[in-house]
Amino acid sequence: MSFILTTPLYYVNDKAHLGSTYTTLACDTLARFYRLEGRKVIFITGVDEHGQKIQRTAIKSGKTPQEHCDTITENYLNLWKNWDITYDRFIRTTSPKHKIIVEQFFKRVQSSGDIYIGYQKGWYCVECEEYKEVSTKDDKPSCSVHMKDLEWRDEENLFFRLSKYQSQIENLISQPNFLFPKSRRKEIINFVAGGLKDFSISRINVPWGIPVPGFKGHTFYVWFDALLGYLTAIIDDGGEINIERLNQSGWPETLHVIGKDILRFHAVYWPAMLISAGLKVPKTLFGHGFLTSEGQKMGKSLGNVLDPMKFLESYGQDSVRWYLLRNIHFGKDGDYQQKRFVELINNDLANTIGNMINRTTSMSRKWFSNSIPTYDKKLPNDNFLINKSTATINEVRDNLTGLKFLEASESILELSRIANVYINEKAPWKLIKDEDKKQEVGNIIYDVLEVSRIIGVLLKPILPNLSKKILNQLSIQDDISYWKDHLDWGKLKSGQLLPQPQPIIKKLEINGTL
Ligand code: MSP
Repeated sequence: MSFILTTPLYYVNDKAHLGSTYTTLACDTLARFYRLEGRKVIFITGVDEHGQKIQRTAIKSGKTPQEHCDTITENYLNLWKNWDITYDRFIRTTSPKHKIIVEQFFKRVQSSGDIYIGYQKGWYCVECEEYKEVSTKDDKPSCSVHMKDLEWRDEENLFFRLSKYQSQIENLISQPNFLFPKSRRKEIINFVAGGLKDFSISRINVPWGIPVPGFKGHTFYVWFDALLGYLTAIIDDGGEINIERLNQSGWPETLHVIGKDILRFHAVYWPAMLISAGLKVPKTLFGHGFLTSEGQKMGKSLGNVLDPMKFLESYGQDSVRWYLLRNIHFGKDGDYQQKRFVELINNDLANTIGNMINRTTSMSRKWFSNSIPTYDKKLPNDNFLINKSTATINEVRDNLTGLKFLEASESILELSRIANVYINEKAPWKLIKDEDKKQEVGNIIYDVLEVSRIIGVLLKPILPNLSKKILNQLSIQDDISYWKDHLDWGKLKSGQLLPQPQPIIKKLEINGTL
């Protein structure tokens, strides 16, 4: 059975910044991890191209909405290509297939009796594409997220009977395996406890959207349209919503990874829409935190938007992936700090892991004819490194399953620290002076090289490039598709020639800026 993993579908009002790239990097790590574990993964990403926000941005840039979407979408596709994102499906909400799905879905919801015409009055944030609750008598309210004035709306809209699903949604969000991290459950539980209100699913005066069949002048509200992008991505044939085939595709064995700001849409609106359409609800949601830049919210007006392409050009994939995944608790907010970035890359990757490999392969080459020493099982061994490696493998698997990227990375790093201490304590450079101890040295070197191999294999989903470099330093071709066969101890081939050691990563200048 396939496992479906999704990023949000990104708005194409602007190019991606590092904050939105963050989700995709995390999902890419998860997708790689599950594939290595032998699961069939359908990793979905894409773009959300309709709505007033996009329409306005296009007009401002003197383009038609479609031209504008094409340009920004191209940008996303290039970005993911350059970052080696291993998505399986990329969905555009302007695709003809998506339009058919939205229309079909609407008809299903309509025939459940969940659509009616009403009037929507309220304060709207175009940036959020959301009506906002304004409690005070404020006659010029603004959006607390975007600091922009809200716009007053008073118009005929179609409504979806969300209120009908109150108890089903209450049940769903109280299930222990639906919404993660646990810390975000409360917010949703409180919101639902306040009583679910029907929400409008169409707009008039927003031509840049999918027309609602049978309701002239109405286009679908961008969220009613975009959420269905997940289904469009899964459904293979021509846009037919066929329950049987949908189930065969893996749905609802799905993990939606999203930012905390769009949790409500995914935890409340989306499941209710699906139930109404007679479809199953997704299995799990994970709402991660926000990335700030040197302590400030990222924003164009603040001039502190971190450009993922610049990062890539300046530092390469491994460094940025490492910083984001190893430094930030995935469920919590995190800050990008240049100083910390440089420190982590230099300390963790160049010093701890890099030096471990460099010095061990150098010793091995020097004392064992440029190759990996033979291992003598008859010599006493307390199995210290074997036990540590086994424990690390289990921790990494558990942590990645739980989207605990920081903890998984930390476990790998700790194994490397342990191996470094081990080699310092054993001091093979002293033992080698005694010819009788040569095999003992051989065993020590073999064990540390084996730890290095396991670290290389374990880093595969997190730092795919660095993993390859590590394995190459050990004369291993990176043709690993499944972890299973590569995480057992003792896979290194004695007698295998080792290449000239190369640094696996370049150290960064402390004061280097982008
Ligand atoms: N189009 C909707 C999603 C529809 S899904 C069916 C949307 N798009 S978005 O481009 O505004 O946001 C996409 C994702 O980027 C969201 O998960 C959002 O939380 C995330 N982020 C935007 N800024 C971010 C940070 N500064 N940090 C981390 N994630 C951030 O919402």
